[in-house]
Amino acid sequence: MPRTNAIAALSFAAVLAAPPLVAADERSENFQMFCSVCHGDNGKGQTEEGRKKKARDLTNAKWQDTIDDARIVRSITKGHEKMPSFEKKLSADEIKALVAEVRSLAKKSS
Ligand code: HEC
Repeated sequence: MPRTNAIAALSFAAVLAAPPLVAADERSENFQMFCSVCHGDNGKGQTEEGRKKKARDLTNAKWQDTIDDARIVRSITKGHEKMPSFEKKLSADEIKALVAEVRSLAKKSS
């Protein structure tokens, strides 16, 4: 195989092998649809709605250290203070994925 084809094939393989990571400031569809209105795409809660409802800064790693995944699952499922419940809108698996996404917000800023 000519050299350029080999290189093209290799970089194609690299794209396929890459994990489906969400790019730096890009959130998943569910996050954008259900969470960004208050928490913002960056998770900091600096949206109009977020300020009104006092949404917390989800990127705060120190705060994240103080709570476990089960608590986040419960807050998303049942709601928490002024945050609504999402048990009718999201499946358990979708909520699990959002917990991982919330966790990734803290890692980025620390
Ligand atoms: C209507 C606005 C609103 C929406 C929409 C919203 N939140 Fe919240 N969220 C809040 C507020 C307000 C708090 C602060 C409550 C508190 O003090 O913990 C909060 C807190 C949280 C917490 C911390 C809960 C805890 O146990 O301490 C997490 C995690 C969270 N939100 C994730 C999400 C995710 C994921 C979504 C989308 C499925 C979402 N939120 C949608 C308003 C919202």
